[in-house]
Amino acid sequence: DQDVYKYYADGEWKVSSSGNSVIILNPSTRQPQYKIQACTQDEVNKAVQSAKEAQSIWAKTPLWKRAETLHKAAAILKEHKESIAGCIVKEIAKPHKDAITEVVRSADLISYCAEEGVRILGEGKMLVSDSFPGNERNKMCLVSKIPLGIVLAIPPFNYPVNLAVSKIAPALIAGNALVLKPPTQGAVAGIHMVHCFHLAGFPKGLISCITGKGSEIGDFLTMHPGVNCISFTGGDTGIAISKKAGMIPLQMELGGKDVCIVLEDADLDLAAANIVKGGFSYSGQRCTAVKLVLVMETVADVLVEKVVTLMSKLTIGAPEDDCDITAVVTESSAKFIEGLVDDARVKGATFCQEYRREGNLIWPLLVDNVRPDMRLAWEEPFGPVVPVVRITSVEEGIHHCNASNLALQGCVFTRDINKAIMISDAMETGTVQINSAPSRGPDHFPFQGLRDSGIGSQGITNSINMMTKVKTTVINLP
Ligand code: G3P
Repeated sequence: DQDVYKYYADGEWKVSSSGNSVIILNPSTRQPQYKIQACTQDEVNKAVQSAKEAQSIWAKTPLWKRAETLHKAAAILKEHKESIAGCIVKEIAKPHKDAITEVVRSADLISYCAEEGVRILGEGKMLVSDSFPGNERNKMCLVSKIPLGIVLAIPPFNYPVNLAVSKIAPALIAGNALVLKPPTQGAVAGIHMVHCFHLAGFPKGLISCITGKGSEIGDFLTMHPGVNCISFTGGDTGIAISKKAGMIPLQMELGGKDVCIVLEDADLDLAAANIVKGGFSYSGQRCTAVKLVLVMETVADVLVEKVVTLMSKLTIGAPEDDCDITAVVTESSAKFIEGLVDDARVKGATFCQEYRREGNLIWPLLVDNVRPDMRLAWEEPFGPVVPVVRITSVEEGIHHCNASNLALQGCVFTRDINKAIMISDAMETGTVQINSAPSRGPDHFPFQGLRDSGIGSQGITNSINMMTKVKTTVINLP
């Protein structure tokens, strides 16, 4: 079927022998937009086999050459930014300008990764034995970093290109092969991105892009004995994967309930601007979105008013028109968000705007006077809804942050830097931003979640290190 996007394995674009496809609905129109191949387990086996063969050659390819090929892929990706962004707009309803930014950011990530890889993999370490008690200086230990083998990358829908390359580029520079299982929404953008790697001239089989139904190939891929590392970004499926995966390194980012603590001495204009940007960009569908405002009661009225004023300027509509608020990714997501909103309404929260939803499009909503017995206080909407809890002490805010099972990022707004540092120390979350909304980038910064928000630390340097293992050679002198 010509209309079905092919999957990529063994250096070629292929039609699955299953004869089946998966339909991708456009979130804005809720009509079928694209079709992708529903790959079989046998096709997964073949991709893993050719990845294994290609990896042994790639690992011996000089580091400078691996870097050069990655730089080439980055340049090709930038050249194709318009067409790839076009897919992102249709598949996940990301505003066009943000989709372009995602592609450009991804190309920059690949280039930075190539450079960083050359630096950190290009140098080893030597230890001498006489530093340990009882030893003479007769042993020298050469330490180097070698690839793991095959890395399985599973990115989420919200950054189908950027969170794919943040796994692909470190894996490849470190000498690994890469199997990509793109998210269903975002798979076609992923396919176009993989084609840029294809054009850059990586060895046949080194990269594959296996599309299909999670129910058929999800567990098969994550439990595959040929896979040596899994890098996953998404929801709590990651917890299930971690229970089933073998004895291999796992890197996971599984969402956040990022709190924004606003103190009495905060610059309230700055806080309000960051709450709107952090809470509503890409309609709140970011793991690092502001998902709960914890504001001191004494400044709450002023802050809420400022946030509401800024929210009234948000444009609502089509991603093609660069509207700020666009349809959320699926109907089930829209219904889930509505469930959280209904719960808050029934339990007596204050709605700062009228709740409105048409299809998958949800109008931005600030929900004030949220209390801990409401679902919105703990669950992530992953939509354009921001709850506000009024607090009477800083300790109350820190306690709420630490009581959440999710702990990706958080932020604190205050003019008192000493207080900010003390609060940051007390917040048990992966990253604390002082006087700015949570955010993953720049992409070389460490990025990690605590508790159910994930395992391992990402960011370019950490990912390269995580996708290698240590190898030592000991020289024994007479
Ligand atoms: O939701 C994905 C998460 O990694 C957010 O990234 O760049 O929007 O902070 P960013």
